[in-house]
Amino acid sequence: MALPNDNIGVKTRELLTAQAHIWNHTFSFINSMSLKCAIQLGIPDIIHSHGRAMTLSDLVNALPIKNNKAKRQDCIYRLMRILIHAGFFVQTKINEEQEEEGYLLTPVSRLLLTDEPNLSMIPLLQLMFDQIMMDPLHCLSQWIQNAGDDQPNAFATTHGKQLYEYARDDARFNCLVNEAVASDARLLTSHVLIEHCKGVFEGLKSLVDVGGGTGIVAKAISNEFPELKCSVFDLPHVVEGLEGSKNLSYIKGNMFKSIPSADAILLKWILIDWSDEDCVKILKNCKEAIPSKENGGKVIIIDMVILDDQKGDHKSYETQLFFDMLTMTLVSGKQRSQKEWAKLFSDAGFSDYNIISILGLRSVIEIYP
Ligand SMILES: C[S@@+](CC[C@H](N)C(=O)[O-])C[C@H]1O[C@@H](n2cnc3c(N)ncnc32)[C@H](O)[C@@H]1O
Repeated sequence: MALPNDNIGVKTRELLTAQAHIWNHTFSFINSMSLKCAIQLGIPDIIHSHGRAMTLSDLVNALPIKNNKAKRQDCIYRLMRILIHAGFFVQTKINEEQEEEGYLLTPVSRLLLTDEPNLSMIPLLQLMFDQIMMDPLHCLSQWIQNAGDDQPNAFATTHGKQLYEYARDDARFNCLVNEAVASDARLLTSHVLIEHCKGVFEGLKSLVDVGGGTGIVAKAISNEFPELKCSVFDLPHVVEGLEGSKNLSYIKGNMFKSIPSADAILLKWILIDWSDEDCVKILKNCKEAIPSKENGGKVIIIDMVILDDQKGDHKSYETQLFFDMLTMTLVSGKQRSQKEWAKLFSDAGFSDYNIISILGLRSVIEIYP
């Protein structure tokens, strides 16, 4: 039933709209928690393996619920209702004759299946919903008010060390981080990067993927370009024990010290983690590692370029702002506008750049010495 807003006057209507706006923002995290619950219960996988629209009672029967299945039916109905509203599932008639409806996946929940290794975003959700990642978000204001220079982000305030140090010291968390970034790399390389950005890598003889994690992106590039010598350069605890192949090798190191030489350096999802000052240091080390522009040298960055909110894609802009707050909280990094990127490139001594907006919320940026 709609509120009888017509009879209440402008001021009162404004008041109630403001209240509803605050409710909506205060409770937006319920969307995230409902999604978390559905993933933990395995709902996308269960509906997928059912193979056709799945009724509520079939879904409840298939769920790993120990006690009081019948009592939980109403909870699952309500969980599914909010997830349908959020676009994760749809409801459709089971068949023409019957009134009963069943749940189906949508293109969004297809990215939440565990048996779709090149598409699954589940490792990213598992990392983001982990307590270690969530806790710093609860102490943002304390960090802003009280932190000294030894606490460059709320993650360090909460856990007493920086995110990558935490990963180095905690095998479970290291695994969560590596799997999350690998899942993103798999989705991007198997469906967009190689197919639509081939020209970016063509003609190169050597490439170093700096902060390349476990090497998913470099593996895909080295398979597609067998003559291209690829290296994955990352911290020792990330590349320890990883085996290369004919044209792929792993190198341990620290990008703040020096970067191995190559025609091109790839920085995918690296600069978002760091302050402007640190990015300039990384980019200067990249510049030392590559030949001149005339001899084919370049750095290839894959990151977000903050959209112009005035142009109207409100949801994409909001998602980029979520990432911005997240990088500020967890790693002292930021999302940058085109103007901010241009300043970084010029401060690091690069002469020119080219932005290819092809990866959804992210772009490929080629920069030249
Ligand atoms: C957000 S992940 C991106 C991984 C990969 N490029 C991708 O997008 O799939 C950042 C990577 O930078 C690496 N890293 C952090 N500090 C580093 C450093 N000082 N030197 C080299 N790599 C570093 C991390 O270990 C991690 O693998």
